[in-house]
Amino acid sequence: MKDLSGKNAVITGGGSGIGRGMALAFADAGMNVVIADVELSAAGAVQAEVEKLGVRGLAIETDVTKADSVEALAEAAYRELGAVHLLCNNAGVVTFGTIDQLTRADWSWVLAVNLHGVIHGLQAFIPRMKEQPGEKHVVNTASTAGMWPHPALAPYVASKYAVVGLSETLRMEGTGYGLSASALCAGNTKTKIVTSARNRLPEFGGPETTDEPAVEEAIQDGMEPEEVGRIVRQGVIDDLEYIWTHPDIRELADARLDAVRSSLDEAQKRNA
Ligand SMILES: NC(=O)c1ccc[n+]([C@@H]2O[C@H](COP(=O)([O-])OP(=O)(O)OC[C@H]3O[C@@H](n4cnc5c(N)ncnc54)[C@H](O)[C@@H]3O)[C@@H](O)[C@H]2O)c1
Repeated sequence: MKDLSGKNAVITGGGSGIGRGMALAFADAGMNVVIADVELSAAGAVQAEVEKLGVRGLAIETDVTKADSVEALAEAAYRELGAVHLLCNNAGVVTFGTIDQLTRADWSWVLAVNLHGVIHGLQAFIPRMKEQPGEKHVVNTASTAGMWPHPALAPYVASKYAVVGLSETLRMEGTGYGLSASALCAGNTKTKIVTSARNRLPEFGGPETTDEPAVEEAIQDGMEPEEVGRIVRQGVIDDLEYIWTHPDIRELADARLDAVRSSLDEAQKRNA
């Protein structure tokens, strides 16, 4: 989507971190922004920042784990703005622990937010966006953890691999409807992700404190979320299938692709 000015964006998890960074980057390009978040006060603070940039901001309390809540978000966005040109399915959370340590509630919560949250976004918005004339774009926030594994993050990794696959599929299905899609494969970004259990929903065990000093240090050494927002904005303009924030992770991507290629070589030899 080359021309962003005057168009409308909806960002889930827009009240903090990468979602806020994207809200500011898109508002700075002249887009009106709907900030959807389970934490309404955080969404309201970002709405005020967005409005200072001279565009319209809307803060809407949304729990992406609930299909009805995301449907209400879509209804409100179309009622207030008339069209949605950019959807960022960004809300996401993390739990820490090896596979033997994780509880069923850990799995359910992370998959409910990170995977079903994206599915709910697609179900609520894609039929409307397909009918809408002109260019449309969806950015689904995945992670480097959607491309290769990270120990002690199994539910997160599983959810993000799924988000990459959803994005690739949507990009194929959008052809002919002016609808494109990108997977945001972000690396460490300075956000509140480590303490995401602050918003753990009651049905998944309720809020928890997190004690992961090493991960917290790596995240606080990460990229500024405003910079991630600007990279995403350029990725939408350039219509990239994968938006990478940290190109220095290339070796890890190459290692995964090499492993896939060499196992295919073995399979070919076996079947020759
Ligand atoms: N920070 C990183 O290093 C990093 C790296 C790669 C990908 N990501 C991804 O970026 C996305 C944003 O995370 P962040 O790092 O900005 O963290 P963050 O905690 O700062 O922001 C996440 C936002 O999502 C909201 N949220 C949580 N549960 C929700 C729900 N059920 N419904 C609606 N909103 C909900 C939170 O209230 C918060 O405002 C996530 O998908 C995360 O997996 C983060």
